[in-house]
Amino acid sequence: MRDPHQQFYDQLAAEWDLDYTAEDLERLSRLVDSMKVKSGENVLDLGCGTGILFDMFRRKVGNKGSVTGVDFSVQMARQAHRNFPFDNVNVVDADVAVLPFRDHRFDLVVAFRAFPHFVDKRKALAEIHRVLKPGAPFYIIHLVSSKELAMHHKRRGGVEAEDVLPSADDMQLMFSDARFAKLTIDDHPGLYLATAINS
Ligand SMILES: C[S@@+](CC[C@H](N)C(=O)[O-])C[C@H]1O[C@@H](n2cnc3c(N)ncnc32)[C@H](O)[C@@H]1O
Repeated sequence: MRDPHQQFYDQLAAEWDLDYTAEDLERLSRLVDSMKVKSGENVLDLGCGTGILFDMFRRKVGNKGSVTGVDFSVQMARQAHRNFPFDNVNVVDADVAVLPFRDHRFDLVVAFRAFPHFVDKRKALAEIHRVLKPGAPFYIIHLVSSKELAMHHKRRGGVEAEDVLPSADDMQLMFSDARFAKLTIDDHPGLYLATAINS
């Protein structure tokens, strides 16, 4: 069965890149810098949209590494592919609940503005745990707090109306059930950053 988010994001893909300000890009770039990504690493961007993070990671991993984006909106995935036709960038049209990658393939997984939209978060976390190397990080990033995000989605209504970041307690439970070793959450006006370390 198709998830209504697919059609919703398909319709937004053509104009998606206009959503970002220079300030957003600057803040994102600083966040990516803080992740200390190394040359040769393999990065996975879940719910990648049109690939707003690709260039930031691509420059860090270089030609020996790779950036892989996953999105189940065909139009978002197509636009990402058009935006970044580089050898070290792959875009895959897939659902995060069934990732088409071998175990322990990635050095880092990120979900920017995407985790609240994953309908089956537990399945997604099980898959993220599976494809991450032991000890590698998974980041959830929003440039707003969880409260600000919930209000924003409520205002917009439609398929996003109920899409929220789970409470800190629910997140701890979900991540430990998915066998992540550690989860820290920074949630304040203007930023939500969850960092989980794989076991
Ligand atoms: C708010 S957009 C963010 C896109 C991009 N990360 C950005 O910030 O520009 C959320 C994206 O997650 C994707 N998405 C939502 N649920 C998904 C799922 N279960 N599997 C794959 N992609 C999903 C949507 O298609 C959409 O492109």
